[in-house]
Amino acid sequence: MERVLGLMNAACGGKLIFRPFMSSPDRIRVPWVYSRLRHPLFAWLGLRPIFAQHTEAEHQALQQWVRGRRQVVEIGVAEGASALALREAMANDGTLYLVDPFHWSRMKWINGVRRAARAAVTRSQRANVVWIEKFSYNAAEDWTKTIDFLFLDGDHNQEAVWQDWESWHRFVAPGGCVAFHDAREFPSGWPTATDGPVRVVNALFRERALPGWTIEAEIHSLVVVKRDD
Ligand SMILES: C[S@@+](CC[C@H](N)C(=O)[O-])C[C@H]1O[C@@H](n2cnc3c(N)ncnc32)[C@H](O)[C@@H]1O
Repeated sequence: MERVLGLMNAACGGKLIFRPFMSSPDRIRVPWVYSRLRHPLFAWLGLRPIFAQHTEAEHQALQQWVRGRRQVVEIGVAEGASALALREAMANDGTLYLVDPFHWSRMKWINGVRRAARAAVTRSQRANVVWIEKFSYNAAEDWTKTIDFLFLDGDHNQEAVWQDWESWHRFVAPGGCVAFHDAREFPSGWPTATDGPVRVVNALFRERALPGWTIEAEIHSLVVVKRDD
């Protein structure tokens, strides 16, 4: 096992960067050995890769839409797979703000998810990273900066998604984008019509047109909307 991981590390220039994406929405490609090591502390220790919670196509779309953006905010980090994707592709002189309270850990002083996320995000050296360990609604209270790209993937309850949109979208610069995850039904996909992000995106952008905003891309469960220039 150690030898295999060592070879993988060497092949990746000393960095374990493999992420088991869902290659298609109906198939999670988690090798057997990693499925036995689900606890996030194993990711922090480098014994398994971080688990991405999105598909490979969504990963590519996130990187496409964040490319060149300087002020990037992610709400909901988990083990850091999408945060790492954003950092790898955004402007090198930009700043990535990562908002997550990491509140699920039963052992707060260990907090495996937080440790796994921090280790994952440092695998890229692009851009600055600012960690904001707060609930998004608390982080929004102090927020003053404009945002070029906002990724909403935190609390998926309908009220919480509404609150994230209401709290954060006014900071998005003209020409900037908001990406909603788990926000769209699609063949073999996991979201349903009653899911919070699906309901909010439908209400905001499909049941009527929201002046100043346009749906720019829809990839699996991901919906990217753009603020007019
Ligand atoms: C679906 S996961 C994020 C997945 C991650 N974006 C990825 O693709 O790997 C949801 C995360 O949101 C966080 N979360 C839940 N409520 C939140 C809130 N109100 N503000 C910020 N983060 C929140 C949870 O702690 C969890 O880590």
